[in-house]
Amino acid sequence: MKILAIESSCDETAAAVVENGRTILSNCVASQVPQHQVYGGVVPEIASRLHLETVYELTDRALLEAGLTRDAIDAIAVTYAPGLIGALLVGVNFAKGAALASNKPLIPVHHLRGHIAANYLASPELEPPFVCLVASGGNTVIVEVADYTEFRILGATRDDAAGESFDKVARKMGMPYPGGASIERSSVGGDPYKYVLPDAKVSGSPMDMSFSGLKTAAINLLHHAEQSGEEIDIPSFCASFSRAVSDILVPRTVEALRQTGCRKLAVAGGVAANAYIRAEFEKQTQALGAKLYLPPRSLCGDNAAMIGAQAYYEYLAGRIADQSLNAFATMPISELRF
Ligand code: KG4
Repeated sequence: MKILAIESSCDETAAAVVENGRTILSNCVASQVPQHQVYGGVVPEIASRLHLETVYELTDRALLEAGLTRDAIDAIAVTYAPGLIGALLVGVNFAKGAALASNKPLIPVHHLRGHIAANYLASPELEPPFVCLVASGGNTVIVEVADYTEFRILGATRDDAAGESFDKVARKMGMPYPGGASIERSSVGGDPYKYVLPDAKVSGSPMDMSFSGLKTAAINLLHHAEQSGEEIDIPSFCASFSRAVSDILVPRTVEALRQTGCRKLAVAGGVAANAYIRAEFEKQTQALGAKLYLPPRSLCGDNAAMIGAQAYYEYLAGRIADQSLNAFATMPISELRF
């Protein structure tokens, strides 16, 4: 089954064709990063307008690169939640039009389910059940993937997402958006133990997380240094910040493995591209004798191939939408609403 998938939840317009949930036939991404960089972050209205300008041509390119005509596609999939509402509406409306014009089924896909499914593309042998950490710019959640369309939330951030803390701290240092990649680049040769940053625990919820205190502490440290004329060792500060985020994410995810008794761990989302965090997960899963699944960096960030992969399993579970499909800015991964 060949699915044409559209993704427009944030600042990447993406279109892809995926076969049977596992094989990428094409994967086109038009990043808006340069247009948002001027503002130090994503401007929602600009994001919506750029999606509108790009989505049609990008979809044609995805079909062309897959070597397929519109008739050869079996279904249209689209990210419908969560994300920037204006941005989501562009993709949803486009997909509805495409499904109507071609008389093909329309499959709504939850963005975070898509991030998890990036692992199905990277590791054809991976099957549920497994535990997955999804850490992106807008969400950070540890889930038990009981089945392809069955999810149980084990832990989540109570405030900011891990990626957002990277973005805000990078902005304070004058580094370009997206901050995670900038901080990682600047951490080369730094000492990850030089700066001590906090790890807030959520009392009684060992798998829940908090990043806002870490973000504020890091920004305050930079601010105080600026005011007192103290010179910050940037590579070490960046390495220490990556370590601090890793120290929040990794032990809680390991705890999820322990509590569920699961021996398979997948990691997904933009923050999963971070080399320090990837290495820590490798160390910890090796020590536990668990198997680690990490998508290549190219599939960690937003893309439509991951949406096409999850769409296949949503389709098998009978999740087909009609022309009343709407978009939702927020929605838990475990919810079935469209
Ligand atoms: O998954 P993604 O592309 O978009 C969302 O669905 O949010 O994630 C974007 C986030 C940004 O916050 C960005 O700073 C972070 O992923 N990110 C990284 C790295 N590359 C991107 N964080 C840490 N290290 C990286 N190398």
